[in-house]
Amino acid sequence: MEPILGRRILRFDAVESTNDTAKELLGEGAEEGTVIVAERQVAGRGRHGRAWFSPPGGLYCSIVLKGDETSARLLTLATGIPVVKALRHWSVLATLKWPNDVVFRDRKIGGVLCEGVYRHDTYWVVAGIGVNTNVPLDRLPEEVRRTATSLKAETGIEVSNDEFLAYVLREYEKVYLASRSGSRNSLTREYMALCTTIRQKVAVSTANGTVRGTAVEVTPQGALVVVDEAGKRVEVADGSIEAS
Ligand code: BTN
Repeated sequence: MEPILGRRILRFDAVESTNDTAKELLGEGAEEGTVIVAERQVAGRGRHGRAWFSPPGGLYCSIVLKGDETSARLLTLATGIPVVKALRHWSVLATLKWPNDVVFRDRKIGGVLCEGVYRHDTYWVVAGIGVNTNVPLDRLPEEVRRTATSLKAETGIEVSNDEFLAYVLREYEKVYLASRSGSRNSLTREYMALCTTIRQKVAVSTANGTVRGTAVEVTPQGALVVVDEAGKRVEVADGSIEAS
């Protein structure tokens, strides 16, 4: 069977955000599996409206997927899996920090922003991926540089972003098919095996306050389960890990 992801790849020099370009193109009838790639973004976005600095050298792409509201949350998590695998292929032993940070030795090397959108009576998920492949760290603002790294800074290797993307898409195809076929438990297990948040003491800041305790698992819906100091299981659907 022909792969779905990457059946059409549209390349841009500069865009505001590849996620926004993908959404615009969905309005014009872009198909499932279309990939938008840009050399740089001038208004790259992360979760909770944070900026994602996107100078030339990094990989910035968005993949147009079909889904539903429930699979969207799991896809947010699952999208990190192929990114970690690609980094490992290029010798960086990256891991995931719930929900979607890609880190190496506590420094952020990549991130994922999945956004759901209705177009033409269909629910789409735009899966945005940013990876600091060849980003010169001195092109990042000081406050970002303190907690970020890049594949090139860690290995000295200048990777081809096209080859990196091709690897991500091959691995993502398996994850995407699993998310559609209802193999959510195996996807969750694969995620947890790569996620260092599991078994850690955490403080998760959420819209309803901070949840403190030990992260024990991720549900098939993508929520983090924290056992708090009173031994109660708390499911956190969205939040940011504050400290360990
Ligand atoms: C995060 O760390 O909070 C997520 C960062 C996601 C960045 C990528 S880069 C490609 C795509 N376009 C965006 O504007 N954001 C995502």
